[in-house]
Amino acid sequence: MKILILNGPNLNLLGKREPTIYGNTSFEEYFEQLKEIFPNVELEYRQSNHEGSLVDYIHEVGFSYDGIVFNAGAYTHTSVAIADAIAGVETPVIEVHISNVHAREAFRHHSYMAKNCVGTIAGLGLKGYELGVKYFIEK
Ligand code: DQA
Repeated sequence: MKILILNGPNLNLLGKREPTIYGNTSFEEYFEQLKEIFPNVELEYRQSNHEGSLVDYIHEVGFSYDGIVFNAGAYTHTSVAIADAIAGVETPVIEVHISNVHAREAFRHHSYMAKNCVGTIAGLGLKGYELGVKYFIEK
């Protein structure tokens, strides 16, 4: 089973970025934990700050991988291109947000990609990625 964990803009700063909202753990550290939790899953991690690169990654794995656990960061709220990329591939996508976007500014309440995703996990911290992977395994 092959699963891509995909992070969008500013998530390369996890651990340093607004720690009261996003915590003190870098994604690289967390990804090591995730691989230990799921030793039998081929987990891959990619991050980009660029909208087009995220679209390219989705296309690249979207006809062969079993799932994508995707935190598109701010592009969630702005990107029709990313929403279309998700709609255009076969691999199912789970939308993840570390923070509870619904308890934050109004502009974070809308997601262009949500309707093309299997579901959304928000507000559970980094645990959301683990739960996304678990869903694909158990399905
Ligand atoms: C985020 C929430 C987004 O609104 C924000 O732009 C991010 C991170 C989250 O994980 O909580 O960059 O996706």
